[in-house]
Amino acid sequence: MAKAAGKKTIFFCQNCGHESAKWMGQCPACREWNTFVEEPAAPKTAGKPSARQRGTTAAAPVRIRDVSMEEHSRSQTGISEFDRVLGGGVIPGSLILIGGDPGIGKSTLLLQACRNLAEAGPEVLYISGEESLQQIRMRAERIGEMPDSLLLLCETDLGTIGETIRTRRPAVCVIDSIQTMYSEEIASAPGSVSQVREATAVLLQLAKSLGISIFIVGHVTKDGAVAGPRVLEHMVDTVLYFEGDRHASYRILRAVKNRFGSTNEIGVFEMRGSGLAEVPNPSEYMLSGKPAGASGSVVACSIEGTRPVLLEVQALICRTAFGMPRRTAAGCDYNRVNLLMAVLEKRCGISLSDCDAYVNLAGGIRMNEPAVDLGIVLAIVSSFRNIPVSDKLMVFGEVGLSGEVRAVSQAEQRVQEAKKLGFEAVILPKANLKNCRGIEGIRLLPAENLRGAIAALGQAEK
Ligand code: TYD
Ligand code: MG
Repeated sequence: MAKAAGKKTIFFCQNCGHESAKWMGQCPACREWNTFVEEPAAPKTAGKPSARQRGTTAAAPVRIRDVSMEEHSRSQTGISEFDRVLGGGVIPGSLILIGGDPGIGKSTLLLQACRNLAEAGPEVLYISGEESLQQIRMRAERIGEMPDSLLLLCETDLGTIGETIRTRRPAVCVIDSIQTMYSEEIASAPGSVSQVREATAVLLQLAKSLGISIFIVGHVTKDGAVAGPRVLEHMVDTVLYFEGDRHASYRILRAVKNRFGSTNEIGVFEMRGSGLAEVPNPSEYMLSGKPAGASGSVVACSIEGTRPVLLEVQALICRTAFGMPRRTAAGCDYNRVNLLMAVLEKRCGISLSDCDAYVNLAGGIRMNEPAVDLGIVLAIVSSFRNIPVSDKLMVFGEVGLSGEVRAVSQAEQRVQEAKKLGFEAVILPKANLKNCRGIEGIRLLPAENLRGAIAALGQAEK
């Protein structure tokens, strides 16, 4: 990694874009290993007009109260799960990043959204730097009829793309994958941190000055061969991640940042032979494969954005064959599972230190809300004792270090969701009981601490 003589270079983290003057093994910002690459330093003027071009006259600030409040007219993509994640539709002039693993279905989702947007009348331009026109046409065949106002372009040169957008002025534009775009002004290869940043800066300028909504596709890559979408999260208005198990058919679209709506909102889709289909009731979908009468399986509830989602927590506890117990956590935080097991051991006297523990949120879904704690704990207890938990029971609550079951937000909504899906009993934090007084037709079993919650498992059967 010797510096080329006379040329200034900088080292960038391909994962988060952290800059450094020298190479490092581990990125101090995102803690990823071996992600630093050397790139020529961008000329200072790239992307920004110089002070002389702008002219250095003073600007006139305005009073915040005088700024007009007109609501932007959002255009609907016609895919209601997608619209909800966006905060109610696409705002003109917004820059939206969709990140995800290769092959997860980003291009498919956007092509479907583009078709619906174009059907409503305005021109939509889909720019692909990855696939040929024929390949896109083949995908479109699977999705269905395409309207006349949906235009395709295969191009990777940023200058040409900018000119095309400026002359055609589409209402919506898609850039299928930012990592394939390149600007001639930057010396490094397409997909490098400087290229990806420059391309986004150019697109941002276009979106804001012409009022065009631009969707940017960004691949998440583990090996760091190209810069990940995280390096441009701060530049865009909305960041969505498309995730899910590639081998399972469902996909989750999650809003991580949204200047025009709430974050942590999720949209659930299923990949079918004819493109992505919406899953309007995710709880039903997540619980569809739940085994009846199996120990170690408990239904918990997590609030995702504005919606409660019921999910199945599975635990398998068995005696360890060797000295070192094995623990794994899929879909939830590994350290959290270790902590909850320590609390169980200390506060409830359940000896788990010589047991292997495997905890899994069924269906490959990932949820990190503390309200799922109680579900994890009770699934572990159920598997340890080999006693199944009632199929008609749902549980939620945060577990504290002294074994107390703490209140969580939006308890009433969670209980209502359980009731809607035909559950007959709920174990909930005692402090949340007052929020749920008015709910009829479902038994509420309040628990103050873990011992109380474990005792309530028996009551749920009655
Ligand atoms: P794609 O949108 O190309 O993924 P990305 O742009 O995120 O890389 O989706 C690719 C996968 O989806 C591919 O494995 C094929 C599958 N697929 C279906 O199962 N059904 C369909 O109707 C379509 C269009 C794709
Ligand atoms: Mg693609």
